[in-house]
Amino acid sequence: MVRGFLAPATLEEFCARVEEIKTQEPLSYDEMFQRHYVNGHAYFQKILHRMMLKIAVDTFKEELVASYSFLSFYQEGRGFCPPHRDRPECYRTIDICLRQRRPWALFVDGEEFLMEPGDAIFYAGSEQLHWRDVISEGNYCDLLFFHFSRAV
Ligand SMILES: [Fe+2]
Repeated sequence: MVRGFLAPATLEEFCARVEEIKTQEPLSYDEMFQRHYVNGHAYFQKILHRMMLKIAVDTFKEELVASYSFLSFYQEGRGFCPPHRDRPECYRTIDICLRQRRPWALFVDGEEFLMEPGDAIFYAGSEQLHWRDVISEGNYCDLLFFHFSRAV
């Protein structure tokens, strides 16, 4: 986990964009995870290609291809994330907490991570089992994902 992965100004800008997106664009709904989401929004796709790809390559120390960005909005008292491994498109992931009422544990291979807004977790989504328990009453959580696939 990287504490303060996003500088405060960047976190503020991302959150402002997310609020715009929430009010101005249709959100998709995922029944299984009970969350709203936006897949591959143009603004975050640019961030993916211009900024996050290099960070991912440097951090994971392997050649990667930018796959897609993903915004995930878990509402108050709803939502969970059952134990799973991701598709090959999510071979490597940067998972960033944007806003929440209180930390909501993410488990990766059994290790618990409690993120604050601006923190990030780097993990191997298609290899490491990861999950979150049902979000607690009164809590909410907005997450931003950048996914990378293996370079061929
Ligand atoms: Fe996943």
